[in-house]
Amino acid sequence: MQKKRTHTCGDLNLSALGQTAILMGWVDRRRDHGSLIFIDLRDRYGVTQVRIDPDTPCYEAAKNLRGEFVVSITGTVEARPEGMVNSKLNTGAIELAAAELEILNSAKTVPFMITGDTIANEDLRLKYRYLDLRRPEMQRNLLIRNKCYQLVRNYFEAHQFVEVETPCLMRSTPEGARDYLVPSRVWKGRFYALPQSPQQYKQLLMVAGLDRYFQIVRCFRDEDLRADRQPEFTQIDVEMSFIDEEDLFALVEGLMARIFAEVLDRKIELPLQRIPFDEAMARYGSDKPDLRFAMEIADITPLTVASEFKVFHDTAAQGGKVAGICAPGCGGYSRKQIEDLSEWIKNRGGAGLVAIKVKESDWDSSLSKFFPETLRQQITAALGAKDGDLMLFIAGKPEVTLTLLGDLRLKVAAQENLIPQEEYRLAWVVDFPLFEYSEEEKRYVARHHPFTSPKPEQADWLLSNPAQVKARAYDLILNGMEIAGGSIRIHNSEMQSQMFRALGIGAREAEEKFGHLLEAFSYGAPPHGGIAFGFDRLVMLLAGCQSIREVIAFPKTASAMSLMDGSPSQVSEAQLKELHLIISKD
Ligand code: AMO
Repeated sequence: MQKKRTHTCGDLNLSALGQTAILMGWVDRRRDHGSLIFIDLRDRYGVTQVRIDPDTPCYEAAKNLRGEFVVSITGTVEARPEGMVNSKLNTGAIELAAAELEILNSAKTVPFMITGDTIANEDLRLKYRYLDLRRPEMQRNLLIRNKCYQLVRNYFEAHQFVEVETPCLMRSTPEGARDYLVPSRVWKGRFYALPQSPQQYKQLLMVAGLDRYFQIVRCFRDEDLRADRQPEFTQIDVEMSFIDEEDLFALVEGLMARIFAEVLDRKIELPLQRIPFDEAMARYGSDKPDLRFAMEIADITPLTVASEFKVFHDTAAQGGKVAGICAPGCGGYSRKQIEDLSEWIKNRGGAGLVAIKVKESDWDSSLSKFFPETLRQQITAALGAKDGDLMLFIAGKPEVTLTLLGDLRLKVAAQENLIPQEEYRLAWVVDFPLFEYSEEEKRYVARHHPFTSPKPEQADWLLSNPAQVKARAYDLILNGMEIAGGSIRIHNSEMQSQMFRALGIGAREAEEKFGHLLEAFSYGAPPHGGIAFGFDRLVMLLAGCQSIREVIAFPKTASAMSLMDGSPSQVSEAQLKELHLIISKD
């Protein structure tokens, strides 16, 4: 009869001394100590040391064990000899003296070590993801992820939310990222789109009277990938009726407090700070500022009018912005280090970087002559710079200048280790502009999405002054990353039509693309709003990882490939034919 394990590899300790136990797991390591053989047996729960004495019947079999063999070992729990106790392991005070050994499966030599300090390169890890997932670090990440699923479900269930599944095959809609398309076999030449988010469905569920909806849901976006983006990712998607921003903030803050308490054992201060978008841009050059460190941007445009330094003076006179940050303690930067920063700015589209060192309470710079002494003091004071600091300035179009300084702030802080890694800073960014101008499309596009409500007092400006209209939209940021975004929606068809008009979407086009939504809104849509969390990003930050790939079991590479199963793959002629598709030659 097949044996059953009595304990996991993380269970046994001194309380089980003398007991017979059956363990099953993977051979993490086999060590031969003279005549004794030791095996570290590993499973999800831990590692237990197994000792095989030369006089046990299974001794010969144990000699053949290699890494990652799957075995069943029956033995007696014994205390480790004094001096051999490993206090880092739960099981570190005991060992299992083997009596019987059964090899349940052998294993080829693995392409990288499962445990230990060396981590294989990521491509190899992704190709053999099932082995990578055996690593305790990855199992820890998946367990944190699992804990978050359970917390989220419990929290929303306790607040009367209903989990509703929405379709994965839907209509392709414009706006946002590129859709992943699925060709229809039944309907020649037609396509489904995979949802970029369940946005429309959750609004329809509000029309349906569900009142409070949530879903842990997969979303698909065909966009350029980065460390915090995957083509398929998971959202905690939320929508509520008859609420305003305050209700939603309170709900989300409660969830965050729960997650931080249960996952990290940390208390977060509530209510969370709220930063208007304009202020975030002005102070940090980003709509998702990392608030764990200061290095705030100082706008010196009004001051530079009085300088004779042409670049600053002309920029200020022509309506541009001159602003800077103080890099604390960087006054010793070499010419090369400064040139590298300047190149970096130029590569990101900036005209250049002006660097001025502060020494003996004055500027240590050939540019001093262009700035009278009082002006030098005023600028130094505006940046809060002291002796030994380096001031970095950029001049140009206002938005570009702020964004570049925001990027520079992060780069310098990272390279100077100024970001407290142990800290978590959560905040809301509010009062976003409703639109942004797309140079590419030569029209305004929705900054969030076209269903986001304008601030009621500015609703009349939708067509006359779109650039000035602020949205009832909000993002939740954590350590410089957007972890959630949402808005109060437009719930009346008249306002929605106006919004489409402002976006340059004609009545016909709107009818064609969003007709079902507009129609639904005409049957009594309640006022509603919601939010969606980037679940992978949240888990990544909680797990202290640098990439969302570390918290997704089977992620894609930066070029949207799965190295393990080789997708996307070619398909047969017959499959293409069935779908009425021809692959073009170019
Ligand atoms: P949004 O587009 O802001 O809003 O997405 C919500 C959150 O999802 C995360 N996210 C991603 N995570 C990983 N990979 C990606 N490619 C990716 N794209 C987005 C971010 C983001 O904050 N329907 C609206 C929400 C709403 O209005 O209720 C939406 O999808 O953390």
